[in-house]
Amino acid sequence: MTSPVSVLVVGGGSRGETYSQFARIHPERMKVVGVADPRKFACKKLQQQHNIAEENVFEDWRGILERDKFADCVLVCTPDRLHKDPAVAFARKGYHVLLEKPMATTAEDCTEIVAACTESGVMLTVCHVLRYEPVIHMIKELIDGGAIGDVVHIQHLEPVGFYHFAHSFVRGNWRNESESSFALLAKSCHDIDLIHHWAGGRRCVKVSSFGALSHFRKESKPAGAANRCLDCPVEGDCAYSASKIYLDAVKRGNVGWPVSVICPTSLPDIESVTEALRIGPYGRCVYDCDNDVCTNQVVNLEFEGGLTAAFTMVAFTESICQRKTTIYGSKGELSCDGPEIHVFDFLTRRKTTHTAPSKTPEVFGMNGHGAADYKLMEAFISAVANNDPSLIRSGPEETLRSHRLVFEAERSRREGRVVDCSAIDRHQVSA
Ligand SMILES: NC(=O)c1ccc[n+]([C@@H]2O[C@H](COP(=O)([O-])OP(=O)(O)OC[C@H]3O[C@@H](n4cnc5c(N)ncnc54)[C@H](O)[C@@H]3O)[C@@H](O)[C@H]2O)c1
Repeated sequence: MTSPVSVLVVGGGSRGETYSQFARIHPERMKVVGVADPRKFACKKLQQQHNIAEENVFEDWRGILERDKFADCVLVCTPDRLHKDPAVAFARKGYHVLLEKPMATTAEDCTEIVAACTESGVMLTVCHVLRYEPVIHMIKELIDGGAIGDVVHIQHLEPVGFYHFAHSFVRGNWRNESESSFALLAKSCHDIDLIHHWAGGRRCVKVSSFGALSHFRKESKPAGAANRCLDCPVEGDCAYSASKIYLDAVKRGNVGWPVSVICPTSLPDIESVTEALRIGPYGRCVYDCDNDVCTNQVVNLEFEGGLTAAFTMVAFTESICQRKTTIYGSKGELSCDGPEIHVFDFLTRRKTTHTAPSKTPEVFGMNGHGAADYKLMEAFISAVANNDPSLIRSGPEETLRSHRLVFEAERSRREGRVVDCSAIDRHQVSA
């Protein structure tokens, strides 16, 4: 029997902990042997879950690199602005790298990561988890199998969800570009990657984008509102009240996301959540935060051969991240907004429905993102165990290309002009 793939977790927060759970489901395939995180609580939790030796617990990722290589691979799950340095350093030390998205916050840094992995001969998996969702894969198979003929237009919507947006992009970690990244990169690099994937090998030639920060601004603050929801006399009339989003949830016994991530030093309960809302970022009035990222953004893309795509990201939705996609082809129309894909055939005028398989172990919180977190880890661990990069769907070249499209779309929004993307391929690192 081969020994399990040994894994280091750099950044033991929400994502690091989720991916680590693969080792609890499949101890024969993966073992977490080290963790680095400045938060003692995060380290302790992972150390206990995975029985990590004391000498392999680090306050910072640099500590690991002072030692000789002692694991097969690393999961880089640090905040957005802390991706490039550890990813490059671990790759140079010979570790295979699983890297959270966005790869990095500039196109140059993304390119440097790919170069470091290529030069060191290590595998890179970027956590574009949707690429591992069975329904997304099935859409690609249907397109490639000719179900709708030539793809002519892709329409794709990402509804972020009203309280999800308030949690992550107004009060939380991704609210301010200087601390994390712009919204299109932080939230929708997944979606631009999917559009790029469904467009097949075609190069994107032009991109344009518009977007704005709407509503979550100081001028929208209701008269009489306080700076914190727990002190606010008009909180009862506010859909974004932190008391409603977090405290009511924990009172109902729901301690899953987003409640699970607001208490940095303890498990969530009524006392710790109340304290977090009293003094922490998640108790702030949504109209009084230091947020500056877009709530709504559109991106139009033109690919070689005239294929067009239109993408929309919007905060103010009922559904949370349940994408809606319609792909128009020369022989039919494909639509999807859940586990089912509908294909209307223009010749027969009949509609067929395809349902993607979605059976995965619903344990240890690995059923997030439509089971894609689990499938992503399965692919990465299998790739490392078998030294087979073909198992990775979100590898360096394609991911770098789609990230570059995101940077060009944002350039278009900022500069108010259509951006010529033909330079993107010239900047690719040759593998
Ligand atoms: N793939 C997805 O769909 C998806 C979803 C959510 C978040 N993300 C991305 O995953 C990354 C992590 O997000 P998260 O929600 O887990 O955030 P988090 O804040 O819960 O976790 C990040 C962890 O990194 C730790 N950290 C900070 N500095 C460090 C250092 N020097 N060395 C080691 N650890 C350090 C923090 O203490 C924290 O525990 C972000 O880049 C985020 O954008 C991806």
